[in-house]
Amino acid sequence: MARPLQSIHGQWSSRWAFVLAATGSAVGLGNIWKFPYITGENGGGAFVLVYLACLVLIGLPVMMAEILVGRRGRQNPVNSLHSLAIEEKTTQDWQYLGWLGLTAGILIMSYYSVFAGQALAYVFRNFSGVFEGVTADGATSIYNALVSDPERLLAWHTIFVIITSIVVARGVQGGLEKAVKFLMPALLAILFLLVGYAANTGIYFQQGIDFLFHADFSKLSGDSVLTAMGHAFFTLSLGMGAIMVYGSYLPKSASILKMTFAIAFADTAVALLAGMAIFPLVFANGLDIDAGPGLIFHTLPIAFGHMQGGAFFGGLFFLLLVFAAWSSAISLIEPAVAWLVENKEVSRRRASVITGLVTWSLGLLTVFSFNIASEWTVFGNTFFDLLDYLTANIMLPLGGLLIAIFVGRIMSQDSSEKELNIKPQYLYSTWRFLIRYIAPAGIIIVFLNMLWN
Ligand code: PFF
Repeated sequence: MARPLQSIHGQWSSRWAFVLAATGSAVGLGNIWKFPYITGENGGGAFVLVYLACLVLIGLPVMMAEILVGRRGRQNPVNSLHSLAIEEKTTQDWQYLGWLGLTAGILIMSYYSVFAGQALAYVFRNFSGVFEGVTADGATSIYNALVSDPERLLAWHTIFVIITSIVVARGVQGGLEKAVKFLMPALLAILFLLVGYAANTGIYFQQGIDFLFHADFSKLSGDSVLTAMGHAFFTLSLGMGAIMVYGSYLPKSASILKMTFAIAFADTAVALLAGMAIFPLVFANGLDIDAGPGLIFHTLPIAFGHMQGGAFFGGLFFLLLVFAAWSSAISLIEPAVAWLVENKEVSRRRASVITGLVTWSLGLLTVFSFNIASEWTVFGNTFFDLLDYLTANIMLPLGGLLIAIFVGRIMSQDSSEKELNIKPQYLYSTWRFLIRYIAPAGIIIVFLNMLWN
């Protein structure tokens, strides 16, 4: 920390740049891949309602808490928590919460980039027309040919890690901000185009909409409620310092409450639009809506393969997935890069190369878990299963819980009130109630259930 922080710590050019970047972080594989398939598996509309409730009661207050810590600490998550702990005269061990976040980001990035790499491969596969008239078996064998070949999978994974590291190396305004200013509008344009394409399926479009918005509570299990809560965390990029580090680049004057609502609204809108683009195609082709994780890579190519203009729109769909993943991936490694820059006296470029290399190497575990190491399992789980479980089910909820405790119970009311600066007062009191009681209780329930299963 020898160099003056002002010179190495970036800042967004405006509050809107922050909203765009945080939305870019939130909108990712979680929205376009995971949300549609878990909604499909959990019966549709009722699940969407529960998910929205979790978003409002747990997601929003925790996101505000993360931005608050970042902006008040003005450094990477480890240093921010360290200095706020000193300010609040409590144990400096809170910095380990920052470490938990940095580690989670690197671990998530290691597998996220493998899936983003697969999506990248599918952009080319779709545009080239290989899925035209494809059968279910055909689609499966095209997918297997990709993932069972370690070299090919490795090549796509490598490309994705490189493009992510390049953006991060260029800094907050020159890299992150520039990237999201291109990626987010492009993503929205593609998404609207795809919804328009799905609208051409007539009655099936209606069927897709009904599936998303018609609440049938009989299909909801206890487990779906927990899935919804876990997803609220993942989709808003909470619990690992990504939003915290983005908050540290935020000008002091911006309203944290308003920006949080904008980010959560945009994230939810994209997830719902993705559902509106995907479900009608699945219904129109008589395919399985509850295909699970295979919905995107197995089911959807069959749907595109049997539709007019399917090769083009299929390619666009996977491009959308890549753009979404890209703007999320930069936020996965940014906390670690910021830590290196702020503590180890290395340039941003070098810090990005180091972080990229670490995530790339760890990613080999996921790459090989699809092919040469698919037989290597621990308690029946492959490396990828383990990583996914460890990060999404344990590290993020734990990180979120600890952030809620730190901000709601360790930090003084005066500090959080000043930093949030919410008017009218009852809104602040509502947030404080949610962060002190509802969010921790909700997270503990999710957490216990995960451990139970
Ligand atoms: N929010 C991203 C998604 O929905 O795909 C995933 C994610 C990104 C999680 C960044 C955590 C994070 F820090």
